[in-house]
Amino acid sequence: MQMAFYAAYRQIIKAEYDLICKAFKAEFDKVATASLLCLSTFQAQITKRVYRYVIDDASCYARKKIHKLLKQIMEKRIAPGKNHDDMFAELIGNEKSRYHLSEEQIFDQIFAILYSGYETVSGTSMMAIKFLHDHPKALQELREEHLAIRERKKQEEPIDWNDYKSMSFTRAVILETSRLATVVNGVLRKTTQDLELNGFFIPKGWRIYVFTRDINYDPLLYPKPFTFNPWRWVDKSLESHNYCFLFGAGGRLCPGKELGMVKVSTFLHYFVTKYRWEEVGEVEIIKFPRVEVPNGLHVRVSKR
Ligand code: HEM
Repeated sequence: MQMAFYAAYRQIIKAEYDLICKAFKAEFDKVATASLLCLSTFQAQITKRVYRYVIDDASCYARKKIHKLLKQIMEKRIAPGKNHDDMFAELIGNEKSRYHLSEEQIFDQIFAILYSGYETVSGTSMMAIKFLHDHPKALQELREEHLAIRERKKQEEPIDWNDYKSMSFTRAVILETSRLATVVNGVLRKTTQDLELNGFFIPKGWRIYVFTRDINYDPLLYPKPFTFNPWRWVDKSLESHNYCFLFGAGGRLCPGKELGMVKVSTFLHYFVTKYRWEEVGEVEIIKFPRVEVPNGLHVRVSKR
């Protein structure tokens, strides 16, 4: 969880990483928790009133504090002669930039990128570790793929894009993990015209939530749908089928798809080549309405 946040944060705000990271994360966690609680309000039996007064207010306050922190950095950055190489710099832009975003838009973008790439990557990494632990054959094949990469490299040489592109079984493991432990349950859309779907009429302008999660367990699309079987993805065409919504679809397909894949793959590369692990204690996993491990996934890690 922490690793996914810090990796994403470093890509966005590199130079001032140490300066505000801790303060930023403390406030960010409040907003993230509030929005996740909002999603599972029905489950948690929180009344709308409690939500409004306790959680929503706390999250608004945290959001304001984050804005303040980002504004401090922005003011320092727009001073002449300072060049930075991170996402924040790209969003602030310069005179050659095609688009000029307002301060509010920049902060919203940072927030959206951090929020979208945080739980998705950490949840998928954690569940991959869980599934690999429970399926030694898959772990062995994944480890062989990564050890073969290490053999081509010097001892501490980092992996590069070509190595990532060669991780075909790892990609299959990540896709199968995302299918079985779906992190994003659906996609949001707005109808641009009246439409009729299977006898249901949806008027123009309605906001709809397309619940794509159940497709992942359809036995006609994925035989033995509740079995962890990464090999089913080895035939690449499955990923581009029009019923595969793991990263959404169409013009709003997740823009962080490959980045997310790279992050989980890199984590798995170092984890399986350098370490072994075993689970400690009972693991309780909740898969609905979203993936959660209330008491954490505790593992004992040792060097290989
Ligand atoms: C395993 C990792 C990830 C999964 C499973 C995932 C899944 C999704 C899904 C299902 C959507 C909805 C797409 C749609 O409406 O059609 C989405 C949207 C989005 N994702 Fe991801 N995502 C992941 C990682 C990331 C990362 C790493 C980032 C950014 C660094 C990111 C940024 C976004 C953004 C900004 C959107 C909104 C796009 C829009 O509305 O136009 N995601 N993601």
